[in-house]
Amino acid sequence: MMFFGGDYNPEQWDEAVWKEDDALMRRAGVNLATVGVFSWALLEPEEGRYDFAWLDAHLDRLHANGVSVDLATPTASPPPWFTLAHPDALPVGPDGTRLVHGSRDTYCLAAPAYRTAARNIAAALAERYGGHPAVAMWHVHNEYATVCWCDHTAAAFRDWLRERHGSLEALNEAWGTAFWSQRYGAWEQVLPPRASQWHKNPGQHLDFRRFWSDVVLTAYREQRDEIRAHSDRPVTTNMMLPGYQNLDLWALGREVDLVTIDHYPDAPGLDAAADTAFAADRARSFAGGRPWLLMEQGTSTVYDTGRILGKEPGEILRHTIGHIARGSEGALFFQWRQSRAGAETWHSAMLPHAGADSRIFREVQAVGEAVRRLGEVEGSTVTAEVAVLHDADAWWAMEVDGLPSKDLGYHDSLRRAHRALWDAGVTADFAHPEHNLGRYRFVVAPALFLLSDAGAENLRGYVEGGGTLLVQHYSGVVDDRLHARLGGYPASPLREALGIRVEEHRPLREHERIVLSDGTQAAVWSESLRAKGAEAVVTYTHGMLAGKPALTRHRFGAGEAWYLSTRLDDSGYAALITQLAGSGTSGLETVTRRATDGRSWQFLLNHNTDPISLPEPGHDLLTGMTVAELPAGGCAVLRKNP
Ligand code: GAL
Repeated sequence: MMFFGGDYNPEQWDEAVWKEDDALMRRAGVNLATVGVFSWALLEPEEGRYDFAWLDAHLDRLHANGVSVDLATPTASPPPWFTLAHPDALPVGPDGTRLVHGSRDTYCLAAPAYRTAARNIAAALAERYGGHPAVAMWHVHNEYATVCWCDHTAAAFRDWLRERHGSLEALNEAWGTAFWSQRYGAWEQVLPPRASQWHKNPGQHLDFRRFWSDVVLTAYREQRDEIRAHSDRPVTTNMMLPGYQNLDLWALGREVDLVTIDHYPDAPGLDAAADTAFAADRARSFAGGRPWLLMEQGTSTVYDTGRILGKEPGEILRHTIGHIARGSEGALFFQWRQSRAGAETWHSAMLPHAGADSRIFREVQAVGEAVRRLGEVEGSTVTAEVAVLHDADAWWAMEVDGLPSKDLGYHDSLRRAHRALWDAGVTADFAHPEHNLGRYRFVVAPALFLLSDAGAENLRGYVEGGGTLLVQHYSGVVDDRLHARLGGYPASPLREALGIRVEEHRPLREHERIVLSDGTQAAVWSESLRAKGAEAVVTYTHGMLAGKPALTRHRFGAGEAWYLSTRLDDSGYAALITQLAGSGTSGLETVTRRATDGRSWQFLLNHNTDPISLPEPGHDLLTGMTVAELPAGGCAVLRKNP
């Protein structure tokens, strides 16, 4: 069975509405509701006094109605009493401002009082509902995101640093405190990277990011383990949008029983479809290839851009199928019924203010029916032959002050590489630079500014063993302590595989464009490099770089390593990626397949404004008929016999 449903917040409504919810959930085919995400104030109206009667009634009602529950711990939104009882457990920004209740996510994960309160409510819920027949899974917290710079954080940060570095000497060395008179003479002097005068110490920034990720994982594990003591149902926490990198998601993927993500593209249209594929491929990768679940999506876009844009007719279905195609075990929304009051009154829902007689609810019903028809796909997996390298350390490293160009963005580079593959119709995984990459025929490293020794060694081994690797500019430049690589970039084992040596970074000016020897255009960045065994495929034609290599290829061992030292424009980059990765069917998003036990299914989405003929007609699960053509904006899921 595939999951279909969404966040359900019945405490916003009354009995008459609950009755209607039951009927409409049946109509829409809802089989999973996420309950309790923001219910702390009702569940524990005063510290240590619990009120579960109302939740008992909702769980029983949902169960009787055939709807399973993804039961949340409410710890993302502590109630007002918590603020008054534990003012030291509220989050403090880098500038020292302490936040108070009035919104949500007001807590410090490093504060003992918060951690105890969170563990207690998780334990109380698990004890009461661990064996409840409605509970299908547990949803710890919601989108772990809050970061804090308070004194509790400072104390925990020092403990973490002691553990990581062993001694203050080692910390001073790692952070390069010999410069700017930053040397620490006692642990008490070490602080989180709070607001300061100018460039922050880069090592302090990177270690703080790593530390906070570990704090989150520990807080998650504490709740998870309380739940596991009373329940055998899977436990998860929902990952935030891809643009947030507050956590090492590879590590989180190893801690959850099921990877779940929230996904809200910020604009509709083709970009949203590409973004859906980006988010879904990441989720599958963090899940180690196993099935995962889309925990939240919207029936419209979200407010982050200042405008809540509607999705076009058919688009909710395309996004849903786009996620399932890449491994999701269904599709859930935030939220079931649009709020009448409160902070998210204008956020979309499955059931809008207008009620069931609305385009949106009709589309939701159709999506529910489509998900039901895909039941046989459950448990099948997606195999990709191409990977994009992704590493939290590399991302955090690119956030430090004082880098040579403000125009280089980690997330943008990853999205661009993935988008070029998506445009070419190639399904990609994400992989960590230290993962075994042997199963991929092509690997692209769009932004590995930071690359560990082990990563550099691993990439060299990948090429030597027969892989094709494309490393993009500004990669392998610092080690995992943010110390610059000396003697030429990138890090030496990778340099050998690439057969090049980068001597100088030459960022370009804003709006500056350069033309390369094959006529392609580039912007943002250039490098002065020498071929050391590699062949210059394309050269620079301007200034002091004229005649020097811009794009190189090096046969190394049984494989090939390419180095791209500038930022090609979209068409040049697309051509290079297509040359190296191959291409699928253009205009048609063809996911190689989901497969299991000799059975497989091919997912096809037509993002064109014209109908498109399918490469091969087949039995479509969505319509139950044989289809040979997809209308504009249409989707099909073809059952493929072995
Ligand atoms: C998510 C969050 C939900 C809801 C939603 C609105 O990030 O988990 O609680 O706020 O955004 O888009």
